[in-house]
Amino acid sequence: MSPISRPPSVPGHPFIAYQADELQVEGVPLSRLAQDHGTPLFVYSKAAMLDALGAYQRGFAGRHAQICYAMKANSSLGVLQVFAQAGCGFDIVSGGELERVVAAGGDAAKVIFSGVGKTRAEMAQALNAGIGCFNVESEAELDVLSTVALGMGLTAPVSIRVNPNVDPKTHPYISTGLKGNKFGVAHEDALRIYQYAASLKGLHVVGIDCHIGSQITTTEPYLDAMDKVLELVTSIEAAGIPIEHIDFGGGLGIDYNHDTPPQADALWQQLLAKIDAKGFADKKLMIEPGRSLVGNAGVCVTEVLYLKPGEQKNFCIIDAAMNDLPRPAMYQAFHAIVPLSITAKPQAIYDVVGPVCESGDWIGRDRALNVAAGDFMAVLSAGAYCMSMASNYNTRGRAAEVLVAGDTARVIRQRETAQDQMRGEQLA
Ligand code: LLP
Repeated sequence: MSPISRPPSVPGHPFIAYQADELQVEGVPLSRLAQDHGTPLFVYSKAAMLDALGAYQRGFAGRHAQICYAMKANSSLGVLQVFAQAGCGFDIVSGGELERVVAAGGDAAKVIFSGVGKTRAEMAQALNAGIGCFNVESEAELDVLSTVALGMGLTAPVSIRVNPNVDPKTHPYISTGLKGNKFGVAHEDALRIYQYAASLKGLHVVGIDCHIGSQITTTEPYLDAMDKVLELVTSIEAAGIPIEHIDFGGGLGIDYNHDTPPQADALWQQLLAKIDAKGFADKKLMIEPGRSLVGNAGVCVTEVLYLKPGEQKNFCIIDAAMNDLPRPAMYQAFHAIVPLSITAKPQAIYDVVGPVCESGDWIGRDRALNVAAGDFMAVLSAGAYCMSMASNYNTRGRAAEVLVAGDTARVIRQRETAQDQMRGEQLA
């Protein structure tokens, strides 16, 4: 029998740790949750979310700042409630997300609405709700928003998303601030478009916005983007258009696989120095972090269904799949996979795969695991862009979700049934 391989301490997960060889989220053993609620099961730590938020709050101490959680990362109501109660606003990208904010008790006045394709109906819904700002991404959208607002006898507060043409050095699918991306308006065109926005009767220019990408693990792209944004604020204000707030987007990476992203407070120390040096210390600051607030606050607990040895590969077939954890299939993303209980079992190298009928349905490749069928494992760093991107492919119900706070575990989403999935369908 090979030696027990003790998984390293759980990287980047301050509230998820082994206690007496049993993986716990805060004070709750995950195997108990797996037995009580079944698998696949997403489990989140409230303390980890608040801890991640704390790093931004420390970074902004003494400043006029608003943290708008980018809820696309995880839009479950119980997660939104944590951030709403902590005083956060929300970055939304659809009318559906706005309904979720309201349902979770969030404050519409602290909502900013991003995205390249807002519909007229979504604009009207957001104006009715009294959201804080529209982050507009094109001239055509400025025209439509102004018309919609005028039709309602209102003016819409707007920022324009400026594309600083900075390479965030991340996966191409999640780079957003380069020329050639669909997002934002070109840096060179920004002043002219601000002048145009200021001329439209249905709009009130309040800010400037920028977001360069996601899972950014170095500081330089942020510093470069801030220089470009501040340069623009100077020229827009010189043209007589006051900028009340600077929204610097989201994007800060997390530790998936020994990644070392900058810490939010340290990063903001450097960014604030740039803002102050340009004489903008009194401007309101906004940010839209998603992944860095929830990613390492969550795990997906899964059961090993079968071990399937092969000539070229051994497969470890689990009950979670690409419909629950789409990031490996979509971005070749790495998620650490660890057992819930550390036991003496033979070790082998496995590809960890799900039951979905696609070769792309893999969760981890070439992983050394000491496991047997029936064991539970945890897929780490699963708090962001997993449940919110989950699908019903293969008519698999979406997983249940549990929020842990101290020794208490609450179900925040029931497991989806086939009946839930067929609701709204009918025979022809
Ligand atoms: N603001 C805007 C305008 C965004 O487009 C995004 C993310 C965020 C904020 C939040 O970025 P974060 O802080 O989470 O990096 N599904 C991909 C990530 C897509 C990110 C899209 N935009 C993944 O699983 O890696």
